[in-house]
Amino acid sequence: MITPRLHSADVPSSPLIAPSLLSADFARLAEEAQRVADADWLHFDVMDAHFVPNLTFGLPVMQAVRAASPVPLDCHLMIEDPARWAPGYAEAGARNVTVHAEACADPRAVARDLRAAGALAGLAVKPGTPLEGYLDVLPEFDTLLIMTVEPGFGGQEFIAETLPKVRRARELVDTGHLTLFVEVDGGINADTIEQAAAAGADVFVAGSAVYGADDPARAIAALRAQAAAARQG
Ligand code: DX5
Ligand code: ZN
Repeated sequence: MITPRLHSADVPSSPLIAPSLLSADFARLAEEAQRVADADWLHFDVMDAHFVPNLTFGLPVMQAVRAASPVPLDCHLMIEDPARWAPGYAEAGARNVTVHAEACADPRAVARDLRAAGALAGLAVKPGTPLEGYLDVLPEFDTLLIMTVEPGFGGQEFIAETLPKVRRARELVDTGHLTLFVEVDGGINADTIEQAAAAGADVFVAGSAVYGADDPARAIAALRAQAAAARQG
C-alpha cells in the first residue's frame, strides 16, 4: 500500500470548508451529513470528557456517518491517549485524523501509524500552545489544526490572538519548510473567516455558522467565496 502523504501539488488552490457535525442534530446525523454534501471535508469532533469537559461520539458513530456520506471525514480527536485510539479512525476510512499535541507523548509515532493506516495525519494545538515545541515533528504531519477557541464546545467566540500562529505556519509552508494544510477551528463565521484566510489558513472548520444557517449549502459557498477573496487580497 502507498502511504498517503500530502505533496505541495495536492494542496488545492481553493479554500476547504469543513462543517462540524458538533452543531448538527445528533438524532438525524445521516440527514445532517447529506445537507452538507458540497462540503470539502466533514469535521467530526470526538471528545472524551477527559481531555475536554464534554463528551460526543466515537468510532462506531464515525463508521455510520462514513457509510451515510461520501464527503471525506476530518476526525478531530480531543481525547487522552490518542496513540491508542487514533489509528482506528484511519483504518475506518477517515481522510484526515488529527490528534492534540498536548495529549501526545510521541506525536511522530502517531503520525506514522495514521499514515500507515491510510489517512492524512493531523496535529492540533490549543490556543495557548506555541508552535515552537513542535517544529521538529511537524514535517511528519499533513495537517496542522490551529484551535481558534478553547476546544470543547461549539458556538464560542473566535480568539484573534491565535492568528500569529496561523501566519507563522503559512510562512513555514510557503518557504518550503513544511508541506501541510493549515486548518483553523472555532468561531469561524462570516465575520471572522476573512482574517483567518488572510493569515494563511487553507481549511476552515465551521459548526454553528453552517448548521445554524437556514441553508447550509449556501452558507458553505458563501464562506468559501469569502475565504478565497481574502486569501488573494
Ligand atoms: C470545538 C470543536 C469545533 C466546533 C466549532 O472544540 O473542535 O470543531 O465544532 O464550532 P463553531 O464553528 O461553532 O465554533
Ligand atoms: Zn473540531
